[in-house]
Amino acid sequence: MATDDNNDPQGESPNDPRRRDFLNIAAVAFPATAGAVAVLFPLVNQMSPSADVLAESTTTVDLSKIQPGQGVITTFRKQPLFVRNLTPKEVAEANAVPLSELRDPETLEKRTQPGHENWLITLGVCTHLGCIPLGINEGDNRGKFGGYFCPCHGSQYDTAGRIRQGPAPKNLFVPPYKFTSPTAILVG
Ligand code: FES
Repeated sequence: MATDDNNDPQGESPNDPRRRDFLNIAAVAFPATAGAVAVLFPLVNQMSPSADVLAESTTTVDLSKIQPGQGVITTFRKQPLFVRNLTPKEVAEANAVPLSELRDPETLEKRTQPGHENWLITLGVCTHLGCIPLGINEGDNRGKFGGYFCPCHGSQYDTAGRIRQGPAPKNLFVPPYKFTSPTAILVG
């Protein structure tokens, strides 16, 4: 019953910018010469701030304009952050999945905040090799489980951002965050 969706017509172009993870953008921008190493290092270094800076970096997200079924992509500590308002149907679909069927067993309840089960906050970074999955924007291919679809090698995530099919080993990462009001979160 399981199928390989690598041939999915959406987002499969090798030139798709979603295939580039953040560090690789710098890595492929320069030829592999001795001189390039000196240029590349400060760039990579700049893209990898110290642990202190990372620990202090937070992202505030206004949820008030995100309707059920919609999502937004923003950034958290230089990585894409997916903020999605699940519909009641999407919540029910996530809750209907037995944990025994999951590669990385976690309930939707565990992956969300109490009383806010509809708000799914995850990094938009595939846990296989770091591509940005499709699914956060309206009209995106969300894959056969209705969550996210990674066009690089076909990983499929469900409406709780849990890995269901494909090579990715883990669920999309849920960063630490808290609600600062009924319509705002502070991530980090
Ligand atoms: Fe997503 Fe490989 S990076 S499936």
